[in-house]
Amino acid sequence: MRIDAMILAGLAFCFTCLPGLSRAQTTAGVPHLAKQGNATQLLVDGKPFLILSGELSNNAATALEPMEPIWPKLVSSNLNTVLVGVSWAQFEPEEGKFNYTLVDGVIAKARENRMHIVFLWFGCWKNGTSSYPPYWVKKDYERFPRIQIGEGKTVSISGPVELLSTLSEATRDADARAFAALMAHIKEVDGTQHTVVMMQVENEVGVLRDTRDRSPAANAAFAGPVPAELMNYLQSHRATLIPELRDVWASNGSRKSGTWEQVFGPGKPASLEIPIQTTASLLGPLEHENSWQKLHWASDEIFMAWNYARFLEKVVQSGKAAYNIPMYVNGWLQQPNHAWPGTYPSGGPMPQVHDIWRAGAPDIDILAPDLYLEYFDSVCERFTRNGNPLFIPETSTNAANAIVAFGKYNAIGFSPFGIDGNRPIPPDLAATYSLLSEISPMVLAHQGKDTMTAVRLNQGDSPKHVKLGNYTLTLTYIGRNTHIAPQPKGESVPSQVPSALQAAPEPPLEAAAILISTGPDEYYFAGGGMRIDFAPNTPGPQNVGLGDVQQGNFVDGKWVVTRQIAGDDDAQGEILILRPYTILRVTLYRFP
Ligand code: DGJ
Repeated sequence: MRIDAMILAGLAFCFTCLPGLSRAQTTAGVPHLAKQGNATQLLVDGKPFLILSGELSNNAATALEPMEPIWPKLVSSNLNTVLVGVSWAQFEPEEGKFNYTLVDGVIAKARENRMHIVFLWFGCWKNGTSSYPPYWVKKDYERFPRIQIGEGKTVSISGPVELLSTLSEATRDADARAFAALMAHIKEVDGTQHTVVMMQVENEVGVLRDTRDRSPAANAAFAGPVPAELMNYLQSHRATLIPELRDVWASNGSRKSGTWEQVFGPGKPASLEIPIQTTASLLGPLEHENSWQKLHWASDEIFMAWNYARFLEKVVQSGKAAYNIPMYVNGWLQQPNHAWPGTYPSGGPMPQVHDIWRAGAPDIDILAPDLYLEYFDSVCERFTRNGNPLFIPETSTNAANAIVAFGKYNAIGFSPFGIDGNRPIPPDLAATYSLLSEISPMVLAHQGKDTMTAVRLNQGDSPKHVKLGNYTLTLTYIGRNTHIAPQPKGESVPSQVPSALQAAPEPPLEAAAILISTGPDEYYFAGGGMRIDFAPNTPGPQNVGLGDVQQGNFVDGKWVVTRQIAGDDDAQGEILILRPYTILRVTLYRFP
């Protein structure tokens, strides 16, 4: 033993002493997060990286062969990353025996297709419930206890809730051991190649059908004091707490200690039944409009958030001890008709309890929204408070949202769900991913600074005004455009195609563009479907001319002009149109 240890120590010494191969250098390219201005970026192989992704449906990667036709589909739609579930049941079919076949197979295929992977650890919880743990866990009720809910459970679904409790060390340790084994294996097979860039830990955790766990263990904890770590966190972060939480704490007297209900107000009585649709009785229409984003029965949701966070912190710590790459948790969102905890998973990483998660799970890097709601921007706003980086692991295929996420909210990644589905990936999304991939070095250089933003415009929207650099830009919707040259200001645009010959109209484009100020009089615009006008916001001549307008592409990061725009293409120098899926470099001048 002693000799082995000496040999190992010697080898380690030689390894670190090899010229040009220090331990620091061997880990330098490992995926990690780094700050740039007020943004956080993902670095892979030492370089910032935008995840242009899609998430596979839950069980798409439970066998390798059926995955074969999926890879070309992803590649041809310009994805650079795919989010792939790993089922605990398949990974550890017998306790302590791990099966790496699927993980290895997926990594190999991703490499063949030059793609990256984010693995989703479907451990104890998936969509609140516990359908992915192995059989040996599911059948052992004694060792791995379930939650209990009150008699006043939400009425959406009846029957028992098959949901592992957060309050079991045995459950936590079993999950953490399996996750650590997964991370150790990923390090072994991918520690130098970095195909795997990030991990999702569990999936949409939280209690369903009631506001909290009401098992005897949970009731005892709920009746006890709020842990000192949480109270200390609230006090030391008082100035920056998320307002929804700060208000709840303040309205209960900003106490420094006490039980959960003393500190955060009353929980829901066990017998009170809440309908799944919150527009019904308990919340009137007006209250519903205004208050659904708040905490309802705050102590219950906060209690659950703390317990999930503490559980997941252990899982993440074990995983990171094996291989330290960025890790996030994703949340099934609270929404207007599902505003009460339990109608969405209570205790998940909702914006109103982000502070609780930060306090309980400091090793989780990102709290991420599964963002299917129509008010995309407002969810992005709420999820980027206090420096939380934006990663959207699940969403729809709306391409304008991708532009807004990266350009306005400094997103790390965007990932429509069910990308392997029967329907083709929409061409709008594929074209937008191609555009984003071209312009990503510039987007990455400007994230976190005040030199970049993004706008979206729908048909019928009034023009938007954006102050950026030395000019205020006015952006007006034009949609897919007609290929007719825009006319000088004041003249109408005649249709050149007789209406009988016109093809059936395409649905109106949702216009969106990333706007980047690259110099005192220079901009890059990427996206399209809008007209852009300029007004100076610095002293000097007030008229603005289009000095040099180039349409082009970034090839290997270098700007290549494909068309010089003047004459008919910019209404004789008077109107700048950004057509869909294009990149323009525009240099302005001013005259009296
Ligand atoms: C959200 C979940 O996180 C996904 O795994 C999947 O179940 C979708 N819902 C289905 O819409």
